[in-house]
Amino acid sequence: MKIGNVGLASPFVVAPMAGMTDTAFRRLVKRQGGCGLVVTEMVSSEGLVRGIDRTLEYAEYTEEERPVSIQIFGGDPARMAAAAQIVEGMGADIVDVNMGCPVPKIARHSAGCSLMRQPEQAASVIEAMARAVAIPVTVKMRAGWNDGTRTAPTLARMVQDAGAAAVTIHGRTAEQSYSGLADWDLVSRVAGELTIPVFGSGDCIEPEQVVSRMEAGVSGVLVGRGVLRNPWILAQAADIAAGRPPRIATQRDRGQFLCDYIELLLNERVGEGQGFRHFAPGTAAPGETAVARGRDRWVINKIRALCTWYTKGLDGGSHLRTRVNSAASLGELRDIVDEFFFAAPAPV
Ligand SMILES: Cc1cc2nc3c(=O)[nH]c(=O)nc-3n(C[C@H](O)[C@H](O)[C@H](O)COP(=O)(O)O)c2cc1C
Repeated sequence: MKIGNVGLASPFVVAPMAGMTDTAFRRLVKRQGGCGLVVTEMVSSEGLVRGIDRTLEYAEYTEEERPVSIQIFGGDPARMAAAAQIVEGMGADIVDVNMGCPVPKIARHSAGCSLMRQPEQAASVIEAMARAVAIPVTVKMRAGWNDGTRTAPTLARMVQDAGAAAVTIHGRTAEQSYSGLADWDLVSRVAGELTIPVFGSGDCIEPEQVVSRMEAGVSGVLVGRGVLRNPWILAQAADIAAGRPPRIATQRDRGQFLCDYIELLLNERVGEGQGFRHFAPGTAAPGETAVARGRDRWVINKIRALCTWYTKGLDGGSHLRTRVNSAASLGELRDIVDEFFFAAPAPV
């Protein structure tokens, strides 16, 4: 399938997740297979345009991840168009607009899901961006702001008319946040009404669910929390879709994933070939941000954040989570991972 002129080898996508889907994580998921597209964490359009935001590193991506979509947020058409040009200048394949974030800090400034309450403004943002860049402009929205205003069908049509190349709908309202269930009937309805590709998002925890959600008539499925629990879920979904038995991720595979994630995080920007990593203009010099925060501490916090999800459903998972959360050093963290995932079971 294609978004504008960008081909996706698989309809299964790593959903954008602030704080979680950094470039190292995306690369590791991509390596497992079955992943047609990755989306960065959301990046402030103001930060991009001014080139001074501490969060600019969220826009970083590497060649290994292509095709890559950089997600930006903001509510001002001119600033969003300028930010889209920066994204295009970084060589990204797609620029995505966040119209789903319900967090007050974002939504207060006519950005994120607030744009669902200002559909004309939302359409102006997309129109300005689509005029400013040649790469596809896409939108990720929710079902609506609240139950009384489930406006995704109207807004999706408006942004399509304004020049959006694809739309994703997370079938919950902003008020719902993450409670209740995603409304896939609504996603399906929008998919039937639009001429551009429509993607669905919400509640795919098992690979079988990822595949069966395609029956909603969507062009693809974004998987969020399911990938954090099981980074093989997209590869397994691709297996199932191709009629193969889904590959099995062993206990050792799960341990190795954590070890690889630690190593990639530790060695971010170290010894990489020229052109491998793409930075937003104004991003701190290589290594500077992580070093400034204390690199080990930063890596430990990243592993802790992932383990909140990664340990769910594992035998002894909550015990592992507690231990990871109390690890005082990287050495200790590695020992905990070794012991949990690699130690041979005690002889009976
Ligand atoms: C920790 C976390 C961070 C998220 N950050 C973003 C974000 O930056 N941009 C966005 O569009 N959606 C974000 N989302 C929403 C997801 O992309 C996805 O639409 C939602 O979690 C529903 O899918 P799931 O049930 O597969 O997780 C986030 C979700 C989680 C759990």
